[in-house]
Amino acid sequence: MKPVPLHLLPDTATVQADGSLAIGGCDVGELAGRFGTPLFIYDEAHLRARCAEAVAAFGPGRAYYATKAFLCTAMARLAYEEGMHLDVASGGELYVALRAGVPANALAFHGNNKSLAELRMAITEGVRHIVVDSFDELDRLDSLHAEGLPAPKVLARITPGVHAHTHEFIATGQDDSKFGFNLGNGDAHKAVDRMRRSLSVQLEGVHCHIGSNVFEAGNFAKAAEVMAAFAMPLDLPELVLGGGLGVPYVQGEEAPSISQWGNVLLDACQALGVRSNVCVEPGRSIVAGAAITLYTVGTVKHIPGVRTYVSVDGGMSDNPRPVLYGSGYEAFLARAVLAPRPERARLVGKHCESGDVLIFDAGLPQDVRVNDLLATPVTGAYGHSMASNYNKLTRPPVVFVRDGAARLVVRRETYEDLVQCDVG
Ligand SMILES: Cc1ncc(COP(=O)(O)O)c(C=O)c1O
Repeated sequence: MKPVPLHLLPDTATVQADGSLAIGGCDVGELAGRFGTPLFIYDEAHLRARCAEAVAAFGPGRAYYATKAFLCTAMARLAYEEGMHLDVASGGELYVALRAGVPANALAFHGNNKSLAELRMAITEGVRHIVVDSFDELDRLDSLHAEGLPAPKVLARITPGVHAHTHEFIATGQDDSKFGFNLGNGDAHKAVDRMRRSLSVQLEGVHCHIGSNVFEAGNFAKAAEVMAAFAMPLDLPELVLGGGLGVPYVQGEEAPSISQWGNVLLDACQALGVRSNVCVEPGRSIVAGAAITLYTVGTVKHIPGVRTYVSVDGGMSDNPRPVLYGSGYEAFLARAVLAPRPERARLVGKHCESGDVLIFDAGLPQDVRVNDLLATPVTGAYGHSMASNYNKLTRPPVVFVRDGAARLVVRRETYEDLVQCDVG
């Protein structure tokens, strides 16, 4: 197998004279020495460039960063500084964004089962939009209005009946979905009629999101077409077409850039005569490629005639995507970025579970050995944000690197953190 494809590495990644990796002008081996492993290393210039690209493609205030992909105080601030608004999908995400200093009127609040308390928080804080997902949520909004809360500005989340070509668990636009009001069975029209007549909400637009890690521009154009046909007679100010743009994770995968995605969506809307502001909510395409995860190899076990297992010091607790969706990744040695990878091995974590796999069939350099630093690229989205404490592993720290400097933005959890909530 060839060396790791360099286009999978963060924008500022370089191969140093001795063949080792630097990102943001920082030697990755030194970062491991300073912060330990496992370690998430984010290229700040890459993050900022993708945010700026989204804002340039759609216009200021029309690109919402989907915080579920990766959220911490520094990331919320960075996205907002670059001109993005933020999409939050729980009271917790809302709290983190507000605490980071992002104004409430730059936030859209999502969720298929928002609690009364979460809705109350969103209204009291004054979020820009609540994206209403169900008739039950409308009942809750009625009761909050009856309590005396103001009528929030809302969007109606529509399930357009468009199948995105992606994993079943992250496809959301088809009729058989827990999300939104179905267009096909008339619920979308009923919901919009109710919202237009309601005194508890102010309907400002409609929203859809067909799924995540979608590579085919045609899927997005189809969703834009269906949504435009629904939205145009309503003549509302906003049409939000969700996120979902895929990114390449492994050799051979290709995805449209954010600018190309913007062209597909905006051209489709323009051709159909849409007059509303067209907004989007990219998550993965902003952050995925910006990061690598750095691990230390702990054991190399050869089973003749069966396979080789290479175990690292993290696993499904810092990257559950391979186990959840069968997602593929590449791996390479931080000391030898350009080394060919002829050795076949299963890259596994340290959890007490055979399913704890990071790469089912990894290509690795022949001389991979204990104590090597092994990196997996494209781990910036849905890795740290989906991390758990399974087996009471402490969640890894996050470092932002830029212009030769590294700043710790999320510290490593400690054993003491693991018992913080235990009261008995
Ligand atoms: C409503 C909504 N918007 C945006 C996103 C972000 O999607 P992605 O990270 O694929 O861009 C999601 C992800 O599931 C979502 O559910």
